[in-house]
Amino acid sequence: MAYEALSRQRAEELKGKARVRILALETSCDETAAAVVENGRRILSNVVFSQIDLHALYGGVVPEIASRAHMEACSRVVDEALREAGLSLGDVDALAVTKGPGLVGALLAGVNCMKGLAFAAEKPLVGVNHIEGHVSANYLSHPDLAPPFLCLVVSGGHSHLVSVEDYGDYRLLGRTVDDAAGEAFDKAARVLGLPYPGGPRIDALAEEGNPDAFSLPKPKTEGRYDYSFSGLKTAFLNLCHGMEQKGEVLPKADLAAVFRRAVCTELAEKARLLLRDRAAEGRAPRAMALAGGVSANRELRRCMQAMCRREGVPLYLPEIPLCTDNGAMIASAAYFRLLRGETAPLSMNAEPALRLV
Ligand code: KG4
Ligand code: ZN
Repeated sequence: MAYEALSRQRAEELKGKARVRILALETSCDETAAAVVENGRRILSNVVFSQIDLHALYGGVVPEIASRAHMEACSRVVDEALREAGLSLGDVDALAVTKGPGLVGALLAGVNCMKGLAFAAEKPLVGVNHIEGHVSANYLSHPDLAPPFLCLVVSGGHSHLVSVEDYGDYRLLGRTVDDAAGEAFDKAARVLGLPYPGGPRIDALAEEGNPDAFSLPKPKTEGRYDYSFSGLKTAFLNLCHGMEQKGEVLPKADLAAVFRRAVCTELAEKARLLLRDRAAEGRAPRAMALAGGVSANRELRRCMQAMCRREGVPLYLPEIPLCTDNGAMIASAAYFRLLRGETAPLSMNAEPALRLV
């Protein structure tokens, strides 16, 4: 039987199975990560091989270096995930891989690796949207969380307010019109001379600073739930350069705290508008969740917690290690797609500009 027919048949058989274990690989950016997850909720292993050291020298991710490093690390990381889970390839029920969005060469390394394994082991394969993976990290941290809920997705490339209508069914309510929140953090960190990756560094430094030391303009957008961070970034750059030109030593902790406060206030403010509007329409959401690398930000977690408490809506936060890129979130997203009979053909390609909605 051809692989595709066999894969569909196997996926169909899994629908009645009490325990479905998925081995997933994530290679969209600078982490080679693999994990085994049971029933989309229980992590059996989660291995992350970070390439930070390889890219730090260049101040950012170098795509060619990333692709090569993924190719070299893929099978080792996959083997380690299986070993940590105490399983062999034959024991898992299906495979999953991030198909986009991300760096094309990096994605291709993962997609090709998993297509080869799926074909050889005659297992169904699921191609996963990376952003859907970030949202699904919440299913791992919170076994009680199920759609519908609202989610603020904040990563290096995305700042989206989405309505999660059902597993795999999203509606876009707001988005950044220019920079993503993570990108803004990374650029601001560079201005302060902090090494890559800047987001976590600026977050740590900001803990010691005074967020009221300076003021930055409030971003303006046309869309009610849209974001804009490029004006904030430019104002921050001008503030720092102005001080440097006057020969002042940059008060880095204060500057980090001011920038972090501005970004997080804006993120929480638009989410608050959305919650208020929904409540006024008699459609108060059951829950709000955070997702993506920036959801590890301490100030954002505090701001969102305080805001959601005031609005009376439960807030779900992924555990810190599940905020940034990992394989477990991809396995979780794949599980809910597999249950609906979604499997990928061997012709599946990387889709660098894949959208969530
Ligand atoms: O979700 P992610 O791991 O990769 C993408 O899908 O983009 O997000 C990475 C982004 C980077 O911009 C990184 O600087 C940012 O998330 N980030 C943070 C923090 N941890 C990661 N930004 C602010 N505070 C943090 N603690
Ligand atoms: Zn990511």
